[in-house]
Amino acid sequence: MERKNRPAPIPSSPSFQQPSVDLTDNVLTARLPSGDSVTVYLYGATVTSWKTANGAEKLFLSSAAALDGSKPIRGGIPLVFPVFGPPPKDHATGQLPQHGFARNNFWEFLGKSSTESTGKKADDSVKLDFGLSSGMLDEATRKKWPQDFGLVYSVTLGKGSLKCALHVQNKGAEAFEFQCLFHTYLAVKDITKTSISGLASANYIDKVRGAHPFTESSNNLVCSGETDRVYTPNPSDSKITVNEAGKPSFVMTRESLPQTTVWNGWEEKIKGMGDFEPKDGWKRYLCIEPGSVNSWTKLEGGDAWEGSATYESKL
Ligand code: BG6
Repeated sequence: MERKNRPAPIPSSPSFQQPSVDLTDNVLTARLPSGDSVTVYLYGATVTSWKTANGAEKLFLSSAAALDGSKPIRGGIPLVFPVFGPPPKDHATGQLPQHGFARNNFWEFLGKSSTESTGKKADDSVKLDFGLSSGMLDEATRKKWPQDFGLVYSVTLGKGSLKCALHVQNKGAEAFEFQCLFHTYLAVKDITKTSISGLASANYIDKVRGAHPFTESSNNLVCSGETDRVYTPNPSDSKITVNEAGKPSFVMTRESLPQTTVWNGWEEKIKGMGDFEPKDGWKRYLCIEPGSVNSWTKLEGGDAWEGSATYESKL
């Protein structure tokens, strides 16, 4: 019998594209419906690849990088915590290796979340959370830095962007001090034709010139030899732009990260690095490393801190 006022059939759900996330053999790969993708090794929670929708690789990874967990990965985005550089011997981190232990320990994948895209046909971003806590370190490392901590590192892949956010929790009763930094190796076509803007009038420590302090005079900084500088830009200048052949190729925006290291080892230094290949690869990378490294961030027992940086690809 034909019913009057029959309820309209429920429309079948529109095909809604979601990001794919695959974790195999401690390597996680996430891909957006747009084609943007990211690869993260659980070893160090190191991002080793970031590609935009057209398949262009945005990070430099050495072809000789150890990917088997035997040493920190050379390239991508190693994570520096709880100390940057060689630790001062008279500090609580004094026994740790250069750049700390976050980049050479296995993290766990905590899960993914994607943005709500009401009215759209596909998710625009995916957030991947990774965790490392004191209980996951080996006894030797715990002895060297016996703090009760928890880290959550969130990597958010967007259309043409990558955000790195580090959340540090002090789970103990005593305060501890830390430094942290995202050691990002950006892929550039030719370092000699690459410039950096957004650092004019920033104070910096030049590690190549005896770690003396200087003030940047150029708003179009071009590396012309080994460069290893820790800049403290004016707090209102939260953006740094990398230009290639005169056009912006990356914009990096920081939150709660007062410093930015600019590093390129140049020809001679790179020659001496066993895990850096090809040897002329120094021409094709520029480290722009946002962090909090000039002083120590003190975290009281039970407190938490967060800092983040977003890289946008402009090419
Ligand atoms: C940079 C430092 O962040 O990392 C440089 O400023 C250092 O001084 C470089 O040489 C590479 O460090 P590592 O430990 O990865 O060889």
